[in-house]
Amino acid sequence: MPRKIIIDTDPGQDDAVAILLALGSPQELEVLGIVAVAGNVRVAQNAHNALQILEVAGRTDVPVYVGSERPMRHPLVTAEYVHGSTGLDGPTLPAPVTPLQTQHGVDYIIDTLNAHAAGEITLCCLGPLTNIAMAMVKAPAIVSRIREIVLMGGGCFEGGNITPAAEFNIYVDPEAADVVFRSGVPITQIPLDVSHAMLTTKARVQRFRDIGNRSGVVTAEMLDFFERFDVNKYGWDGGPLHDPCVIAWLLKPDLFKGRQCNVAIETGSELTRGMTVVDYWGVTGRVHNVNYLRSGDSDGFYELLVERISRLP
Ligand code: RIB
Ligand code: CA
Repeated sequence: MPRKIIIDTDPGQDDAVAILLALGSPQELEVLGIVAVAGNVRVAQNAHNALQILEVAGRTDVPVYVGSERPMRHPLVTAEYVHGSTGLDGPTLPAPVTPLQTQHGVDYIIDTLNAHAAGEITLCCLGPLTNIAMAMVKAPAIVSRIREIVLMGGGCFEGGNITPAAEFNIYVDPEAADVVFRSGVPITQIPLDVSHAMLTTKARVQRFRDIGNRSGVVTAEMLDFFERFDVNKYGWDGGPLHDPCVIAWLLKPDLFKGRQCNVAIETGSELTRGMTVVDYWGVTGRVHNVNYLRSGDSDGFYELLVERISRLP
């Protein structure tokens, strides 16, 4: 039986590739729905982008919901400087023809968890954690019904990417991350320590183009655009491909290495707002609330991506 997942996301080119990877893996994953969250760009645009990616993949059966418009406390910070004004710059995609769902994304998460057996649904979080935290606050009983949360966010050994201390998804809504990391739900965290090794080198991007299908070409065009900010910033031979690591972990966990440890979120300091304080060496004795991944096999990751995206239209 495929694992049932809800993808909470702010597409974002890397989010879009994660969605394609999930849709290319129907034997292992059943995507129940996609919930947009404010992050890379404003939530309405993120939802629009999700519809476009589903149409590229020929999967307009997957419902898309609009979630939270802003973080729980801080004003919204977006990342057009990375993703472009649309959040999905690179390919020229037709305006989506599929309608958005009318139910609020937070209510969809709550209702779907309540409608399925406890422990049946995994939340795959690719953006700020606002929707997940709001759902936990509005309906605390859902916490025990979540099988697992697999999220891209934070960092430790690689530091931050929006400040020296914080990664974007956690920085945008640290209060939401604090609610989620304290919830007691099993969490697997894919941090910058992993994604910074998953570089979109020219050879790897060309392999998507060489697949010869629409999804491969769109993936290559998205990554060509997406990488330019990070290549310029870090001087690497590609950009770090963050969000597909969440789906890849569900498909092939052996590609990654990490350990159970305590992770806490900085919410009080302006200087280190959104820092994931990772007790990797177990010096605090605090509860091990997170399966913290520290490294990944980049060649195996891209083999998986190419193979699964080649299954799409
Ligand atoms: O810091 C990387 C994360 O922020 C990724 O999820 C990217 O899509 C942006 O949301
Ligand atoms: Ca994202």
